[in-house]
Amino acid sequence: MVAKLIDGKSFAVQIRSEIATQVKVLLDSKGIKPGLAVILVGEDPASQVYVRSKGKQTIEVGMSSYEYKLDRHVSEGDLLGLIEKLNSDEKVNGILCQLPLPDHLNSDLVINSINPEKDVDGFHISNVGLLATGQKSMVPCTPLGCLMMLRSELGDLSGKNAVIIGRSNIVGKPMAHLLIKDSCTVTIAHSRTKNIEELCRSADILVAAVGRPEMVKANWIKEGAVVIDVGINRVEVDPEISSKGYKIVGDVDFESAKSKAGFITPVPGGVGPMTIACLLANTLTACCRKNGLPEPDGLTA
Ligand code: GUN
Repeated sequence: MVAKLIDGKSFAVQIRSEIATQVKVLLDSKGIKPGLAVILVGEDPASQVYVRSKGKQTIEVGMSSYEYKLDRHVSEGDLLGLIEKLNSDEKVNGILCQLPLPDHLNSDLVINSINPEKDVDGFHISNVGLLATGQKSMVPCTPLGCLMMLRSELGDLSGKNAVIIGRSNIVGKPMAHLLIKDSCTVTIAHSRTKNIEELCRSADILVAAVGRPEMVKANWIKEGAVVIDVGINRVEVDPEISSKGYKIVGDVDFESAKSKAGFITPVPGGVGPMTIACLLANTLTACCRKNGLPEPDGLTA
């Protein structure tokens, strides 16, 4: 079997175009323009790339983008002060503070100081609790993007065996809650899991989110399974192969896995583009909720 590629890049284009249409309707009919504020502390190169991309795509769908680049030595008080200001700014519907933060800043404290209704990352403790109890919340962007791709390929997910490799707060845990809500039987595997290969072979849906380059091999995959690769790992390569001296690979050994899986997301071009599209979707959702308007169709969990 040769797996069908799940093209996250073109799926994300489609979602952004739906968002752009709805943003235009909001502006034309109500004079409302959704706004997203992104805070970046320090100069981490990968974070700078993500933040630039988020800002560009926010503007492309017709929303306002506010970027705050803070010195890496910024005090916790100053950062909390900025968030407080954004919490009460009527023009700002979504606030995202790019992680990881430098060590002297308490990430939990920072995240939990964001107004939960503007927490477009879905990381605030209230949103985590709402999601875990199956209530309406802000849903973390990467798992939301994975869910959209799974639903679009499989339709109804109920009764599927899902194995998620990785127990992070950003991906693994919220992904589990979303799949439970869609009536999957869910197992989270991690570094201490016994017989992980055998466990993964039982999965109809396998989500790899551990940050270990090409860890999942073809013999971990059930014939025909759906494989979602969340990993973005930079690995060194001979400069003759790539002038940059590195390439980006996922947590799945794509070359071997594609002949075993039924569907597979590539890296790059799979989950990554969907994450930003879902951030924009969450910003639109937050704006609609704030203004008492119906939520955008098909863009929430
Ligand atoms: N760093 C890596 N992924 C994310 C994300 O989804 N949100 C934020 N805020 N920071 C990140």
